[in-house]
Amino acid sequence: MSSARAHAEWKNRVTAEYSSAAVTAQVLHALIQCGMPDALCRTAIRIVGDELDHAQLSHDTLLALGGEDTPAVLDANALALRADQGPFAFLVDTIGRSFMLGETFAVPLFAAMREGTTHPVARATLDRVLRDEAVHRAFGWDALDALIEHDPDGVRARITAALPGWLRGFRDGYGTLRPQDPLTEEERAAGLLPIERYVAVHHGCLATEIGPWLARRGIQAPPLS
Ligand SMILES: [Fe+2]
Ligand SMILES: [Fe+2]
Repeated sequence: MSSARAHAEWKNRVTAEYSSAAVTAQVLHALIQCGMPDALCRTAIRIVGDELDHAQLSHDTLLALGGEDTPAVLDANALALRADQGPFAFLVDTIGRSFMLGETFAVPLFAAMREGTTHPVARATLDRVLRDEAVHRAFGWDALDALIEHDPDGVRARITAALPGWLRGFRDGYGTLRPQDPLTEEERAAGLLPIERYVAVHHGCLATEIGPWLARRGIQAPPLS
């Protein structure tokens, strides 16, 4: 048996992994529509499968921790492709926010979660997720390079304009300290991470990975405010 907080965390994980599968399926569609390199399309296909596996494994973990077997709640409208965007603009925005930032933050975050996780099912899930996220992160930066090659000035300008808002979203999500009851040993063993660790990993990843990797591509990340 585990705590309500551990159940809520893994339940959210199920929803988040399904959302990632849906978003990546749309990225795949847009990659094909835009005639982007075959290798990127193939990797996107793999990632859709990975994310569905992650959702299933997260659900298995929830059950192993004593959580209820209720279906994941999905917001179909939030997962729909934005009708006001063409496929190339959709790719730039989604690769930028969900992969270049989201998957890059995910790698050190999952690594930090995995460190203290001793529950065998949670540990096995995080082992698999962490292995895959490194591939997803590399896909994001490779896709960004392909987009830049296609339209260097347009892509750099669109990302530069959107970056402050995207970064604020991640910072508000897990880059800001907020009151939290300390985690119990059992919660830590189930893969939960204290908020201070989230904030430290978020700031470190921005400073040592995302910032320099963007700069190398001629995009300046705004200072962390
Ligand atoms: Fe995932
Ligand atoms: Fe992923």
